[in-house]
Amino acid sequence: MKALPKGETINVTENLNFYAGHEPKNLIEKYESPLYVYNENIFRQKCKDMKNIVSYENFQVNYAIKANTNLTLLSIAREEGLCADVSSSGEIVAAMAAGFLPNEIIFIANNISAKEMLFAIEKGILISVDSISQLETYGKIAKGSNVAIRFNSGIGGGHHEKVITGGDGTKFGIMPEYIPQIKEILKKYNLKLVGINHHIGSQNWGDLYIDGVKELLNIAYQFKDLEFIDLGGGFAIPYNKQNGEKPLNLEVLKQLLESYMNEFKESYGKNIKFMIEPGRYIAAECGIVLGTVNSIKTNGEIKYAGTDVGFSVFARPTLYDAHHDIEIYRQSNNSEAENIKEEINIVGNQCESGDYIAKERYLNLKEEDIIAILDAGAYGYSMSSNYNHRPRPAEVLIREDGSLELIRKRESLEDIIKNMIDL
Ligand code: LLP
Repeated sequence: MKALPKGETINVTENLNFYAGHEPKNLIEKYESPLYVYNENIFRQKCKDMKNIVSYENFQVNYAIKANTNLTLLSIAREEGLCADVSSSGEIVAAMAAGFLPNEIIFIANNISAKEMLFAIEKGILISVDSISQLETYGKIAKGSNVAIRFNSGIGGGHHEKVITGGDGTKFGIMPEYIPQIKEILKKYNLKLVGINHHIGSQNWGDLYIDGVKELLNIAYQFKDLEFIDLGGGFAIPYNKQNGEKPLNLEVLKQLLESYMNEFKESYGKNIKFMIEPGRYIAAECGIVLGTVNSIKTNGEIKYAGTDVGFSVFARPTLYDAHHDIEIYRQSNNSEAENIKEEINIVGNQCESGDYIAKERYLNLKEEDIIAILDAGAYGYSMSSNYNHRPRPAEVLIREDGSLELIRKRESLEDIIKNMIDL
């Protein structure tokens, strides 16, 4: 690995010992490019951070597995004492395959069919419904059972409008003014409301999260005998580490959360369970995507580095204009003169102009360079696709002892067409 000129932005992976002595080039030779690489130490640390976010005794962390459903990572999360928040029957299957028991899984459902409800009910998994009509449907098929409800507490926020899930402009949760109807339906079907939850959106820093907590607790007071309150996920991670962005201040959050939890416990008169549902915080920073620069070109004024990481592999920049730090691992010798940085767009190999990884970065890139897209462990592989009939990449885990483990095979070209021919 050759160093780029002085003044290069922070080398994040080196500071973290991310590769534990492995060379990105060797990883790609062994598992092909592009490749998802995860670090077990970092994943475990993030699980621990969330477990310890408060010292409130009756506390549970439900990992929102939509962020990354790799079965090996799920089973590590379970070893770390986390439970699972799922959003579909597919995620139920993944969570159970990784060893989560039904009572360690909560299904935060949105607009699901009665059939999908039954799938969860038959497995003994608690469902949180998020509309009056879904509560009716649930009541009809599961009379006399336990249920949870997702509220829309009016607070919403996130890194992009597409990921804001609270407030007027979103489809999620039941607004508090419907509480009288909720109570009627609960009574009509003899349902026990065991818990309430909300989720204000994704990639939020502390203040807004706390605003949301206050609103949800106000709602909670309107129901007697809840067993839990689930405050949702959405904890932010620093995507701009190379520019010195600092992580979420967990200490400040801890003090605020604990004070609200303890105060609620006192006035509600019950040692109620509090839950959170982090996804991104748990999985983002343990994962990167390695890719290869296949071409360099200039169209008009703009220089492009064309890589094999299209938006079928990693969709966040294309979907949300999301920033991800990039590291470059040079494979060839360069003269100093060749190392001059210039503005460049890093793009993928899909047939759409929106297909990009990084825009207007000030970098020096050459053909055959290997690049790493950092903080790609959450909503990376889980949002990948077969667009343009490209197989999804493999996933490799760097274990705590530094050994490598293939935790998902690369798809083959045959895999992509098999459901159309094995009919
Ligand atoms: N709970 C519920 C009900 C959720 O809908 C989500 C995420 C979470 C928890 C976890 O949120 P987190 O802690 O990961 O922010 N694909 C987008 C993020 C979408 C999040 C969807 N819901 C992205 O790549 O930014």
